[in-house]
Amino acid sequence: MEHVSWTRMEDGTREDYEFLGELYTEHSQGELIENLVTLLKVMEGPKLGYQIDRYQHSLQSATRALRADESLDLVVGALLHDVGDAIAPQNHSATAAAMLRPYVDDETHWVIKHHGLFQGYYYFHHMGGNRDARDVFGEHEYYESCVQFCAKYDQNCFDPDYPTLPIEDFVPMMEELFARESRVPGVAPVGMTADIQIN
Ligand SMILES: [Fe+2]
Ligand SMILES: [Fe+2]
Repeated sequence: MEHVSWTRMEDGTREDYEFLGELYTEHSQGELIENLVTLLKVMEGPKLGYQIDRYQHSLQSATRALRADESLDLVVGALLHDVGDAIAPQNHSATAAAMLRPYVDDETHWVIKHHGLFQGYYYFHHMGGNRDARDVFGEHEYYESCVQFCAKYDQNCFDPDYPTLPIEDFVPMMEELFARESRVPGVAPVGMTADIQIN
């Protein structure tokens, strides 16, 4: 079969969906890392007033996390923490967190999801806001982890002189992380677009 015979999913058979599932899995897994690198590289170029672009910022964040012996989850999380900037500028933290959700531990997911708010500690007060807005999560078990993430792997990662590692050094780590079984049960069989049903 080259393609299914129908144009409406309701007309599909079991054989059709097995055929589609195989093609989809092969395609999505085969291209995932390359697509993520492409998404990171979308941020290459404009420095937007900073001294380095957001691609270098992402690499610097991951480099610092790696050199601090952080977990694979957190290093890859650091690499991708701002990748939502390119496609969801109003919601970049939650976007990156959603992409990582099936593959990383709960702590990394929470940290990436909330890093934008926690990062506000460094500038909200200069813009009429409350730098302590993050304290709404003061009792949360991962509050301190997110504070530390921003302090060590985000707010300080705008240094053009820092010896940042190239993307090639992180590709094997991305391959290892994204080869994991999804941690979140899907609602459809493996191979179909089984969006996770949990935020
Ligand atoms: Fe961010
Ligand atoms: Fe950042």
